[in-house]
Amino acid sequence: MNLQTDYEYALDQSSIVAATDAKGIITYVNEKFCEISQYSREELIGHTHHLINSGYHPPEFWVHLWKTISGGSIWKGQVQNRAKDGSLYWVQTSIIPFFKGQKRPCRYLAIRTDITEYKRLEEEKKQLTEQLFQAQKMEVIGRLARGISHDFNNILGTVQPAVQSISHRSSDPKIQETCEVILESVSHAAHVVKQLLLFSKQMKQLKVLHDSRFILRDIQKMVKHTLGDHIQLVLDLCETPLWIEADTVQLQQVVLNIATNARDAMPRGGVFIIQVSPVILDSQIALRKGRVSPGRYCRITFRDTGVGIPMDQMDHVFEPFFTTKSRDKGTGLGLSVVYGIVEDHQGAIQVDSDPDVGTCFHIYLPEKTHEYAA
Ligand SMILES: Nc1ncnc2c1ncn2[C@@H]1O[C@H](COP(=O)(O)OP(=O)(O)OP(=O)(O)O)[C@@H](O)[C@H]1O
Ligand SMILES: [Mg+2]
Repeated sequence: MNLQTDYEYALDQSSIVAATDAKGIITYVNEKFCEISQYSREELIGHTHHLINSGYHPPEFWVHLWKTISGGSIWKGQVQNRAKDGSLYWVQTSIIPFFKGQKRPCRYLAIRTDITEYKRLEEEKKQLTEQLFQAQKMEVIGRLARGISHDFNNILGTVQPAVQSISHRSSDPKIQETCEVILESVSHAAHVVKQLLLFSKQMKQLKVLHDSRFILRDIQKMVKHTLGDHIQLVLDLCETPLWIEADTVQLQQVVLNIATNARDAMPRGGVFIIQVSPVILDSQIALRKGRVSPGRYCRITFRDTGVGIPMDQMDHVFEPFFTTKSRDKGTGLGLSVVYGIVEDHQGAIQVDSDPDVGTCFHIYLPEKTHEYAA
């Protein structure tokens, strides 16, 4: 038995192996390397690993790696690579320097294991934990909003008639004027409370079966008016009916709140696109979209070409009173109302944004079948 040959055979069966010279030029690759990278031996030998660099790791990462191995130490870490067809894969890597009697390494041997699936599961777990955290946070805020809005409603319910009664009984114009101011504030407060009730899903709904395309077609004029002339509205509706059970007034409010935000995000003009299309969510996609079970959905997408939302604000935009606008411009209730209404329609909402490119809101509402519609 030749132990050396057995060693090599075992290594080839279990790992992705490559050897390079002192400069990192590939001198040897095994079959597994070719398989995973999708490059042939001829394409790899004579080149550096730059060929499979995915661009994921920052320059410091590579500087540290080279410092370690050229200094004679073994480097271990996880690397993302790009295969020939552009697909990405992760490998757990060990790079071992060889000296052959010289001061500096004369070649390196890299032994790698495919950990793509492990990284995918790890990422999925991270997303699920984050989603759970977000859902719990919104649940708590919802409970708080419910409590505040009920108490506030009661308080306003006593203030308003009391002020009206003072106003009626007094002929002093100064008192009348003050009463007007108070009543105006009460009415503003009542509006805020109504938004909070919508967020905490306490408003009565009138859900009826509708073709979602008609709801959007009907509100088109109002959206155009909201956006103003400097923003172009594009309505892209699917060709076949897409039935949903919805409270039209509430859904219109969703559209107008999102359109108002889009307008504010595009002060110098731009494009606002509304798309309606049917989608089927399988369990995995459904998980990523939040707490929504797999199935058939009507997806309404709102896309703007505005300033976008910075990464660190993304988790907060649906919270009541989160706003980046001045006091006279926004209360920070628009998206929390959208969130409450969508959840109340057994739907889900997702936001994607790229600063300076734009923002995209996807709303998923359960599709009702034609038999049900008939
Ligand atoms: N399309 C968008 N582009 C960029 N930022 C957005 C967009 N939509 C929402 N935002 C950000 O999310 C924040 C919260 O939005 P939300 O609609 O809840 O409140 P608001 O617009 O600030 O106030 P209100 O809607 O009560 O008038 C905004 O202040 C803004 O920073
Ligand atoms: Mg708003």
